[in-house]
Amino acid sequence: MTLPSEPEDHRQAFVGHLERVGDRVDRILDHALKNASPHPRVVYKAMRYTALSGGKRLRPALVILSYEACGGRGRKADPVAAAVEMVHAFSLIHDDLPAMDDDDFRRGKPSNHKVFGEGVAILAGDGLLTVAFQTLSGQSKRSRLGPEVTAKLVLELSTATGPGGVIGGQVVDLLSEGTRVPRSTVTYIHEHKTARLFAASLRLGALAAGAGRGEVEALTRYGNAAGTAFQIVDDVLGAAGTVEELGRDPGRDQARGKVTYPVVVGFPASHQAVDRFLADAAKELKRFPKHRNRFLGFLDLIDHRRLDSRGRKLGVVKGK
Ligand code: IPE
Ligand code: IPE
Ligand code: MG
Ligand code: MG
Repeated sequence: MTLPSEPEDHRQAFVGHLERVGDRVDRILDHALKNASPHPRVVYKAMRYTALSGGKRLRPALVILSYEACGGRGRKADPVAAAVEMVHAFSLIHDDLPAMDDDDFRRGKPSNHKVFGEGVAILAGDGLLTVAFQTLSGQSKRSRLGPEVTAKLVLELSTATGPGGVIGGQVVDLLSEGTRVPRSTVTYIHEHKTARLFAASLRLGALAAGAGRGEVEALTRYGNAAGTAFQIVDDVLGAAGTVEELGRDPGRDQARGKVTYPVVVGFPASHQAVDRFLADAAKELKRFPKHRNRFLGFLDLIDHRRLDSRGRKLGVVKGK
């Protein structure tokens, strides 16, 4: 029998939430991209290819979860959630380019540039980044979130995406290829290229709901810890996962000399770090008793991703 507090129940609570919000976010993405401009056709198709092609929708789900946990009602945060997903999609298109990770596959399908060519893929990434802020700005109408909240949201998302966030992490990730770095560098990379956008998703939902400082800060700590754990698990999967789990060939990080947690600290210490970050994140949920299950479910989902089909932690036997 499964008790209500079992990880599987938490996971189910979060997966149920993901299912509830996924279609809503997709509809807004669809509309926002069409509304921005369905022409030139090729860039419109390229933007849709990545934004609407089977991502897990984790970040939009966190925007809406945090909005609801902070007392937000209705669907006013849905366009905010879609804006974050567009930033995420932009970062994926550029991440796969030959000048960056040079990955031919994503989500089990050819990468954006393999289908549309490098030039259009670069522009599709730029397009998604631009439409993200167009969508966010559209919230400034009084009938929506209003100009004051919208200005805060624009500042939040641009800060998390820029050189102090995702872009900064991607730059250090790129320049560290093939070098030996200390643990602090790989932690910097993970906190910036990945955790910042998770934390921003939670902050955006909270700000849209008019949350107080204590709630925003707790969600920021939760998002940074969970996001760092998420990226370490992505590293572990990248080194020890299967084609099905990855949607691409394993061993790509190694081939490029990527600075990953398993490379820098080994598998056992990577798993310990994931355990610690997940435990730290779970401590931040006291203010959200009604939504705690779903927040825990996201952590359990991260934890669960590093298990193979036999329930074994991936990579432990290969530890250095
Ligand atoms: C992939 O993120 C990029 C990383 C930060 C590791 P996701 O695993 O959330 O990507 P999709 O959108 O579900 O494919
Ligand atoms: C994830 O980078 C972060 C961003 C895309 C901004 P990775 O290069 O580690 O992620 P995957 O494994 O290609 O999804
Ligand atoms: Mg990368
Ligand atoms: Mg990559």
